[in-house]
Formats: sequence, C-alpha cells, structure tokens
Amino acid sequence: MSIRSAAKRQAALPLFAHSESVAPVRVNVGEDFRTALRCFTFSGAPTAEVEEGGLHYFVNEFWTSRQRQAHSIQEISYRACFKPQLPEFFIARRTDTGGRVYDPFSGRGTTAVQAALMGRKPIANDVNPLSAILVRPRLDPPPRAAIEARLAGLDLSRGRFTDEQNGLLAFYHPDTLRQICALRDYLLERAASRRMDGADEWIRMVAINRLTGHSAGFFSVYTLPPNQAVSIGSQQKINAARNQTPPLRDIAAIIRRKTRTLLTDGLPLPHPSALLMTGPADATPELGDGEVDLLVTSPPFLDVVDYEGDNWLRCWFAGIDVNAVRIDRHKGVPGWEAFVRRSFTEFARVMRPGGFVAFEVGEVRGGKVLLERHVAEAIQGLPFSVLGVMVNAQAFTKTANCWGVTNNKGGTNSNRIVMAERTGSVS
Ligand SMILES: C[S@@+](CC[C@H](N)C(=O)[O-])C[C@H]1O[C@@H](n2cnc3c(N)ncnc32)[C@H](O)[C@@H]1O
Repeated sequence: MSIRSAAKRQAALPLFAHSESVAPVRVNVGEDFRTALRCFTFSGAPTAEVEEGGLHYFVNEFWTSRQRQAHSIQEISYRACFKPQLPEFFIARRTDTGGRVYDPFSGRGTTAVQAALMGRKPIANDVNPLSAILVRPRLDPPPRAAIEARLAGLDLSRGRFTDEQNGLLAFYHPDTLRQICALRDYLLERAASRRMDGADEWIRMVAINRLTGHSAGFFSVYTLPPNQAVSIGSQQKINAARNQTPPLRDIAAIIRRKTRTLLTDGLPLPHPSALLMTGPADATPELGDGEVDLLVTSPPFLDVVDYEGDNWLRCWFAGIDVNAVRIDRHKGVPGWEAFVRRSFTEFARVMRPGGFVAFEVGEVRGGKVLLERHVAEAIQGLPFSVLGVMVNAQAFTKTANCWGVTNNKGGTNSNRIVMAERTGSVS
C-alpha cells in the first residue's frame, strides 16, 4: 500500500470513529514510541504503516480539530502555524509535568503556549523578534482588570500620522489610523524607556493581531486574513474592486473584545519560567547543553511562505526593521538541507540524550519534493536516530486536503512529522 492510499483509507473512515466519548490510547513517557503509534486508535481505526524511500511512515488521524477544541489562548493567527493539537500530542506522550519543551522556529508560539498550558517549561526561539512579542504575554497573562485599567487610561484620540504613513489610509479610516499611531507611539515609548509591563505587552500582542483582517473585529477595512498583510498598492486595488472605504473603528473596544475571547478558557497552568530567545536556530547560546527534553517545531519549508512580506505591517507596529530580520528562505533543496543540518547540529547540543524531536515539514512543490526525506539525508552522521515519519491523515475538505493532494495555495495542510531521538551523550 502506498502512503497516499493509506492516508485516503484513514481519512475515509466514518466520522463516528472520532467521537469524543472514545478515549484515545495514552502512551506513557518512556514507552517505545513506534509501538505507541502502532497501537494508536480513536476506536478501531488502526495506524497504517508504509515503508517508502528508506523511511517508515505511520499514517492515521492522530489528531483532529473535531476531536478537541484548542485552548482559546492559542487563537491568534500566524502564517503557516500548526494546530495546537500537534504539540499537545507529543508533550502529553513524551514529557512529564515540568519537562522542558523547545521550539526553535516558534512563530506564534503554538508549542510554547501548549507547553505552558500543560505545566511544562516553554523554551522558544525565532529569528523574528515579532515571535517573542506574540508569545510572552500568552504564557503568563496579566489579570484582565489590569488590561482594562490600562486601556481605560490611554487617550488614543490625539494620535498623529506622518506623511510617510499616509499610505496606511488604504487600510484604515483616518481616525482609526490616529488611534493606532497613538497606541504605537505609547508602546514604543514604554519599550524604549524600559517601562513596559505585562498589561502593555498583552495590549501590544492583541493589537498586532487585530491590525488587519476581514471583519469588523479588526482595525482595517476588509482585506486578506490577519496573518497576511498585503502591500498598500494591493489594498488599494482590493478597495477599488470592492468599492469600499475604510470604516471608523474603536480600537480599544476591539482589543477588549479579543482579550475576553482569548481568556475564555482560563489561564495556563503554573509552569517553570519560560526562556524566549530571538535569533537563528543554529546559534542559541542562551540555551545550555542537554537542556531540552522534547523539541516540537516546523521550520520554513523552502521558500513557500514570505514571512517578511506577510508580517510587514505587524513589524511596523512593533517597531521592528523587517529588513534586518534574517529569515531562512531557500529556493533549492541543497541550501535547505544545509540549513536543516546546521539547525540539527545545534539541536544535538541542546538536547539531552534520549530527548525526542518532532520536526514537521509541509507539502511543497505540489508534493514533488518530499522534505521529510531531505531531513533524513541532512541529519546523517549527527547523533539522532530517525524513528519514522508520522502522517496525520485528515478527511478531505475544501481547504484541508489529505496527504499528497495540494490545495494550490502555496501553503500546506498535511502534517508530516519526522520523529527522531537524540542518541549518545551530551557533546
Ligand atoms: C513554519 S513557521 C513556524 C510556525 C509555528 N510552528 C507556529 O505554530 O506558529 C517558521 C518560523 O521560522 C522562523 N524562521 C525562519 N528562519 C529562521 C531561522 N534561521 N532561525 C529561527 N527561526 C527562523 C520564521 O520567522 C517563522 O516564524
């Protein structure tokens, strides 16, 4: 059986197989993970196993958004983020309370936040400073009363925008832009004078998430989904095509509403203090040798996502010079493999022997390039033993397709996770 047909078979299983009343098989830390995956079932749907290209694939619907809603605090958008169910799966099975969970390509911090929610130590890194700005306040949110009080104390009516910022009127009503600029100036001044506290950090994180989107819950007029800011020129075209002008918004009210939604499910569990780093994944001196028990991550997939372009407006708001951020984007496989090898060389240093890696790679080039095989190639000779590749096979939907079937959107929907164990001793 091919991986594709294994995935199709799993995805075609009836929906009742995922009923919440059926408890999934739990696997204890230390149990052989391959055996665990073999035994995995949500009610009789066995894991399919396929040997292909020198790798052992485990195919099943290991998690699904139907099975369990993610915690509300995870609900901020980011390009190419994975679902919280992915890190949750590994954190639950490969660590105990207090375990040290690391994501070197953290993005919105799905892994770090999930680790905090489960009482583990969150360790996160991303080359873009935007990541820590999105992650930190959600690991240890301030009391809601403090956020409300801070918002109530801000006068956002007197903001000004410069001639240079005029272009932003493609997204915002002039009075909305004045409010945004007032909030931005306030936050930048607090950061510069080192007076930023938890309430400021929270407000900044929520504001960044509300900058653009396609409903009245965002500061902007209708535009692309919030994780992808278009250029000013493209927004002018969208406005002309839709015959729209940006409406006036009350940005403090929008921040209050989103705060309520994010905190609906409560706060993370008490957890060991987090370590958040900003820099390339292959050089993380803040992290000591052997300090990581579990690494769950997804790197950039070749050049599929334009992280600089998509985040330009968020970076502007946060005062980040987007041109100074060195995102790894590789057109060709050899360059990408070299980047993966450099990263794993550093992972070998920071992981304890016996530590577990879940390295999620997406579907690229219409399924013609199988990145998981290039990961296995890239890490040969490093102290890791590849346990196999997990394929989370999900039912077909319009936008979420099964293994091997692209949605032609340049992104990725199937999860293929290279699983590896750190072997040997700390170098
Ligand atoms: C696929 S996204 C990660 C998304 C994340 N799993 C989430 O759920 O939000 C890849 C991330 O890698 C970051 N990145 C790119 N090159 C990097 C590098 N050399 N070192 C560290 N991070 C990098 C990008 O800024 C981006 O946030």
